[in-house]
Amino acid sequence: MASDNTVGVALIGCGTVGSGVARLLINDHDLLASRSGLDVRLRHVVDVDFTRARQVGVDEGLFRKDIDDALKDPRTHVVVELVGGTTLARTFVQRALAARKHVVTANKALLAHHGAELWAMARAHGVCIAFEASCVGGVPVIGALLGGLLANEIDALYGIVNGTCNYILSAMAGRGAAYADVLAQAQADGLAEADPTLDVSGEDSAHKLAILAGLAFGRRIDYGAIHVEGIDTLDIADIRYGAELGYTVKLLAIARRQDDGLSLRVHPAFLHDTHPLAGVNGPFNAVSIFGHAVGHTLFYGRGAGSMPTASAVVSDILSVGLGAATAQFARLGLWPDRAEPARQLPIDQLRGRYYLRLTCQDSPGVLAAVTDVFGRHRISLSGVLQHEPDDGGAGVPVVITTAATLEGNIRAACREIDALPVVTAPTVVVRIVEEHQEKLP
Ligand code: HSE
Repeated sequence: MASDNTVGVALIGCGTVGSGVARLLINDHDLLASRSGLDVRLRHVVDVDFTRARQVGVDEGLFRKDIDDALKDPRTHVVVELVGGTTLARTFVQRALAARKHVVTANKALLAHHGAELWAMARAHGVCIAFEASCVGGVPVIGALLGGLLANEIDALYGIVNGTCNYILSAMAGRGAAYADVLAQAQADGLAEADPTLDVSGEDSAHKLAILAGLAFGRRIDYGAIHVEGIDTLDIADIRYGAELGYTVKLLAIARRQDDGLSLRVHPAFLHDTHPLAGVNGPFNAVSIFGHAVGHTLFYGRGAGSMPTASAVVSDILSVGLGAATAQFARLGLWPDRAEPARQLPIDQLRGRYYLRLTCQDSPGVLAAVTDVFGRHRISLSGVLQHEPDDGGAGVPVVITTAATLEGNIRAACREIDALPVVTAPTVVVRIVEEHQEKLP
């Protein structure tokens, strides 16, 4: 950083988030200066299309087509990578680090796949990477893990970390509409990407989970070993039956200690209506973190969007300028690039409760045959719900909730149940996630 408290910024990528960052840096220069004591200057904007940069009033003299123009400038202290993806962005970050520039990024996919390599490279060049905007947009969860919760051993983290999915699920539950209809409406309203695959498949949530869990537990996470299911196969019928039983469905990213390992997973889950995350609706995100000393903490806010994400990016720039991010990066002991690999448990070893929807013939002895299978797999039933048949032949839905058991038992039981002659369609399984219990001393 310059000795006169000036922080020079090169912005790589000026799309939705980049233009929000430029807007904050230009319009709120004096506010940022009075709050931080830093004079933050936008020096370069690198992109191939400057439409949005023009819209927010960036001086055309800052436009560059080549990242080298920004990197060779000694007045550039921080490079903000907002290109996205894992190919070009990875090269840009590597080049910025090699040029001894601090990096601020919102790129969760890049860090989930290549974080350990890039963090190690930053250390080798005496600079840091700050990435608050990569997880839960404007909500300072990473800041909490690196700062306010540092005195804790983290026991568990539960997040609704994808606004697109939460918006779709909230609308399905609220309007009783099918997934495809809600998605089409969300795209028409500009609330979901034209290609929403990364969001609805659960992958975007898993990227964020890999980053958050790495910091929470101080372990290297194998992204490929995270169990990931999306919302794209959810049936509105299950959302309705769940509601009848007092549950609401959310796409959860979960990292929790279990036995001597870590259970890391992303999947739709039924939460009882009284669960603290059940009321997080629409595009909002929330993360519950349980520490051994603090107990339950809950972080809530906007996980996407131009200005909420820009809030995190610019706060990171200030943190780098102040030396806080650089000190945390250099000194904390929880960085995954310096840590042991996590012991990630296979999904079969997950212990929890389950919602099952069986489709059965409407004939005598069906429930007896089914409950016999559950009994042999040592699965205890908590509830059974059956409506009278209404379609004259497609099968009768029988909804069952179970007591806590291993997922391996559920899978084995479902294989047997689906092979019964009285069962006419594959059984639908949704995990039930109960409120995590604090473990205070
Ligand atoms: N597409 C994400 C969401 C935001 O819908 O929450 C960026 O990770």
